[in-house]
Amino acid sequence: MAIQWFPGHMHLTRKAIQERIKAIDVVIELLDARLPGSSANPMLAEMTAGKPALKVLNKQDLADPARTALWLTHYNAMPGVRALPLDASMTTPAKALVAACHELAPNRGGMAKPMRVLICGIPNVGKSTLINTLKGKRAAKTGDEAGVTKLEQRITIADDFYLYDTPGVLWPRIIVAKSGYNLAASGAIGKNAFDEEEVALELLDYLRQHYAEPLQVRYKLTGVADMTDEQLLDAIGRKRGALQSGGKINLQKAAEIVIHDFRACAIGRMTLETPTEFADWLAAGQKLDAERQLKKDAIELDRKIRFKKVPRPPRVADAGVEE
Ligand code: G4P
Repeated sequence: MAIQWFPGHMHLTRKAIQERIKAIDVVIELLDARLPGSSANPMLAEMTAGKPALKVLNKQDLADPARTALWLTHYNAMPGVRALPLDASMTTPAKALVAACHELAPNRGGMAKPMRVLICGIPNVGKSTLINTLKGKRAAKTGDEAGVTKLEQRITIADDFYLYDTPGVLWPRIIVAKSGYNLAASGAIGKNAFDEEEVALELLDYLRQHYAEPLQVRYKLTGVADMTDEQLLDAIGRKRGALQSGGKINLQKAAEIVIHDFRACAIGRMTLETPTEFADWLAAGQKLDAERQLKKDAIELDRKIRFKKVPRPPRVADAGVEE
């Protein structure tokens, strides 16, 4: 069962993007470098189709550098797309972002044709941090200017470079179960919307297969690749003293430790998906979703027929199949 979460205010965001998109030259999508596929928003791609896109792989300081390189190659091979790695410790990210936008929209620039850039990203991906860094000293927030809705911020990065921030959140319907777990592990989903034990077990399942060594070092364990996820969580709980009365392991506490350590990069720099893995998960998720939708449609049609809202379709035998 995929994790679902509805952070609200999405219609506001959607409306603001739809209103603004015509006068936008480049769309910056901030992604979490530890889960670029899962932190992307397919709805955004639909709404901004045709616009040059800059994918910023943020929190790259927490991600596996080899895998970040894979994702950058993946995105940079797409037409109209550029990708950059970023982290909050970079004090001058503006230079790289501005240069990449000019590359994507070379006909924009100068006072007559300023570059207009829209910035989007799921919650907790680091959008506020980046905007604050970009603002620096010189940039001004000009949200009350004509043509800029109250719900939208315009940030002046240079005299001929404007950044538009969107209000609220744009959150995807999760059709890839693994994405739900990865988003929860990363801290993007509200705390009450998922079960920590379930998320920790999914996380350990992946780490055990792809990052066994740093996992063993962190928790002073051996043979993690051969353990089941439950055995591993149990072993971590034991090592870290997550015990309850009677000497049993407090699995909830152990799960919180694992999730905390992953978020804090205490196990090491890790990335939870490669472009190929994500493409496979997405294909499987879309197939399942289509099957679910077919079933839903059939139930709905049946309900309408029973309540005589639509006529019963002829059966194949009645339909007069021509010889
Ligand atoms: P948002 O506006 O997209 O929701 O995200 P925000 O900037 O508030 O950043 C969310 C958290 O991520 C913040 O941590 C912030 O410091 C951290 N962060 C942002 N960019 C980077 C980065 O490049 N690298 C690292 N390592 N961290 C980054 P926080 O205030 O501690 O919040 P939380 O983690 O407790 O939620």
